[in-house]
Amino acid sequence: NAPDPEWGTENVDGKEIKLENVTFSYDGKRDVLKNVDMTFPEKGMTAIVGESGCGKSTVVNILVGAFRPQKGDVTVGGKQLEKLSRENWYSHLSAVSYNTYIFNESVRDNFKMAKESVTDEEIYAALEKVNLKEFIEENGGLDKVITEDANNISGGQKQRLALAIALVSDKDIYVFDEATSNIDIDSEAVIMKNIKAISESKSVIVISHRLA
Ligand SMILES: Nc1ncnc2c1ncn2[C@@H]1O[C@H](COP(=O)(O)OP(=O)(O)O)[C@@H](O)[C@H]1O
Ligand SMILES: [Mg+2]
Repeated sequence: NAPDPEWGTENVDGKEIKLENVTFSYDGKRDVLKNVDMTFPEKGMTAIVGESGCGKSTVVNILVGAFRPQKGDVTVGGKQLEKLSRENWYSHLSAVSYNTYIFNESVRDNFKMAKESVTDEEIYAALEKVNLKEFIEENGGLDKVITEDANNISGGQKQRLALAIALVSDKDIYVFDEATSNIDIDSEAVIMKNIKAISESKSVIVISHRLA
């Protein structure tokens, strides 16, 4: 349970993720995960649903490699997660939570940080997928600067922006941890439809404290 886990040098081949007999504790006393088995296929949507505090975000912490389990195996395409290079793993994985950070930059520059070569057309297509295109068009366009405390954009709009940014990054595996928790019903329906379409060719892990 080192705070700064070590990584290896291998590259990702397959994208099926497996947790096998995983036991994890933050403090070495109380097990937050105990003998957990999970399989996330290369393609398709997998939901993790459970009450607040049951360990869902802890699974995300393990998937992103922020923490290593004390027991059990985490493999990606059959390779131990800790043997992968962190850089290579992050080139395949995108994790979005309810409080994903938005930089104090223009909307366009936030997208460019996720994908250097992104075009305005791609940005607008992604904004449309999260039901945010109209708001951005009518409120400063892609040059709109998101202020530090994001008080020129609502919490739900910020979450939608974070989702759109993740979508242009074009990864193979997406983890959405309560990523639509603050989002209005209409936008959530649009987003879920698009996430479902994405899951036809990618691995999508959706985490929620309630069944949608
Ligand atoms: N970074 C952390 N350090 C110590 N304990 C933590 C940490 N993150 C979560 N926990 C504890 O682990 C348990 C599971 O939390 P979490 O995985 O965030 O649950 P969920 O996402 O299902 O609400 C909770 O009891 C929580 O207090
Ligand atoms: Mg959580």
